[in-house]
Amino acid sequence: MLDRLKAETRAEHIAMEGTLGIMGDDLELAHYRQLLERYCGFYAPVEARLADVLGLAPPGGLDLQARRKLALLRADLLALGGPAADTLAVCTALPPLHTPAQAMGCLYVLEGATLGGVVIGRHVQRTLGLTPESGARFFHGNGAHTAELWRAFRAALAGFAVNPGIADVVVESANATFRSLRHWCLRGPAA
Ligand code: HEM
Repeated sequence: MLDRLKAETRAEHIAMEGTLGIMGDDLELAHYRQLLERYCGFYAPVEARLADVLGLAPPGGLDLQARRKLALLRADLLALGGPAADTLAVCTALPPLHTPAQAMGCLYVLEGATLGGVVIGRHVQRTLGLTPESGARFFHGNGAHTAELWRAFRAALAGFAVNPGIADVVVESANATFRSLRHWCLRGPAA
């Protein structure tokens, strides 16, 4: 399942990196802040749906609450003096999130994003001088626990998706999640 997911979402991951355009040496604060605003408008409804669908007993006993990132995004926007988080546009073209398999495919994308987040966090610090305390908490993400939380998520997912029919849905949902976030980020600040 895990190898398949990585291979079959690779094209979307590459497209995502291009859309974010965050790794350039000429990264500007305005672009960074705009991305955080779009992320906020995506993570808010998606994390709420994930909690609804996976309920009180997520696969492998995952602690969804501890993995939520919306508060970090809000803290960053506050630190950067952006608009209040609850005035931002919210994404309505979400990936389908009705079943646990769809939710786990989506969660794969959000959890995997913490790995790239470490790289992005370092880049944002180097180019914009932002630390977790001054506007880069989201990309700092799970910090020193990143590898450990990722391993636990992978184990939960592997245990969940043993049936090939379920694995298909997980992969489809992971790709749908990448697409949905990418299109939402592409729409820019005026959307
Ligand atoms: C410029 C932006 C990004 C960079 C530089 C980046 C970089 C990385 C890196 C270095 C890894 C670890 C690869 C490994 O250890 O095998 C990774 C994994 C991953 N990233 Fe990204 N990433 C970026 C954006 C994103 C975004 C926005 C998402 C999702 C919203 C995402 C989702 C994932 C996933 C799901 C994995 C796990 C792949 C796997 O091992 O199954 N990435 N990324």
